[in-house]
Amino acid sequence: MPTTARQWLLNGHPRGRGIEQGDFHFAEVTLPDPASGEMLFKTHYLGFDPAQKGWMENIADYVAPMAIGDVMRGSAVAEVVSSNGGRFTVGDMVFGSTGWTDHFVSDGHDLTRIETDLPPTAVLSVLGTTGVTAYCGLFKVGKPVAGDTVLVSGAAGATGSIVGQLAKIAGCRAVGIAGGTDKCDWLVKEAGYDAAIDYKAGNVREQIKEHCPHGVDVIFDNVGGAILNDMLGQIATGARVVICGGISRYETGSLPAGPQNYFNLVFRRGTMAGFIVLDWAAEFPQIRKRLEGFVKDGRLNYREDVQHGFENAPDTLKRLFSGANRGKQLLRL
Ligand SMILES: NC(=O)c1ccc[n+]([C@@H]2O[C@H](COP(=O)([O-])OP(=O)(O)OC[C@H]3O[C@@H](n4cnc5c(N)ncnc54)[C@H](OP(=O)(O)O)[C@@H]3O)[C@@H](O)[C@H]2O)c1
Repeated sequence: MPTTARQWLLNGHPRGRGIEQGDFHFAEVTLPDPASGEMLFKTHYLGFDPAQKGWMENIADYVAPMAIGDVMRGSAVAEVVSSNGGRFTVGDMVFGSTGWTDHFVSDGHDLTRIETDLPPTAVLSVLGTTGVTAYCGLFKVGKPVAGDTVLVSGAAGATGSIVGQLAKIAGCRAVGIAGGTDKCDWLVKEAGYDAAIDYKAGNVREQIKEHCPHGVDVIFDNVGGAILNDMLGQIATGARVVICGGISRYETGSLPAGPQNYFNLVFRRGTMAGFIVLDWAAEFPQIRKRLEGFVKDGRLNYREDVQHGFENAPDTLKRLFSGANRGKQLLRL
């Protein structure tokens, strides 16, 4: 009995503007029966990342370009529903970059069986790209030492909220920047941050000075633009500035001017480095185990924001750019 898959296809490259519904096209296709060694999978959850907008635009050269008509690229948790001698067993839950399709046929070569005691969605959040990005960016690039002050932008987001807690585990003081009082309250009361700065309340530079009076040793930046500039204004001697993301520029048509305060890197003998987490892919299994250990021993909390309905995939992606998401943005099919 052939299976019909519902899919969201790329229908536009949203360069210099926000994502629109018309950038996607809904389609239904009949899947072939699994050939020898293949399996039929049913998708249960999609995971969302701001980087998906860059993939749609084809501005990211660390992944293959996307063409109009391609199934929208994205990560997912899926279940094996039938197998023609495939490498997984019926009922196995797997994860990988499967795209926005509610069923698919694959030999599973690029999928990983979910083997965790945490709920399966954890492989898209704290144990997924989000968690390993926080871990690699902080420890491999930021190199915090106990006593350091770590300042994080986009702090209430999926990645930022993990960074602050990892900084605390490393014995640092964690200060987060986020939009709105409810997110700032959550940072201090639930996510373990020592202090929070509401960038929407204005005067970010003054707020940073107040909460980081001895300067900032490690910056973990998810936002770029004016917030990065304000953070650079308060770096300590020997500071490490980690550029993880730049979401403030993802929807603009022109690039912002370089940060005026960059010359503080000279006065303070600082370094600034970007990274692509995939460069450490070989280490992900060990890093996931470490992160899972932190969750199990109660030192690491994570929050997931679960929306519902495959038809809502485009709107769910848009939530990342309005700040509507509370923690890792997921969609349950
Ligand atoms: N380098 C890498 O290898 C790598 C890997 C994965 C992710 N990343 C990057 O990591 C960053 C965080 O990703 P995530 O998945 O954890 O997303 P997220 O932080 O959970 O969600 C995005 C958040 O960004 C904030 N935001 C949106 N527009 C903004 C603006 N104009 N100015 C300031 N803040 C804005 C919003 O929070 P507020 O309400 O606080 O504004 C929103 O909730 C992204 O930039 C992503 O591209 C990098």
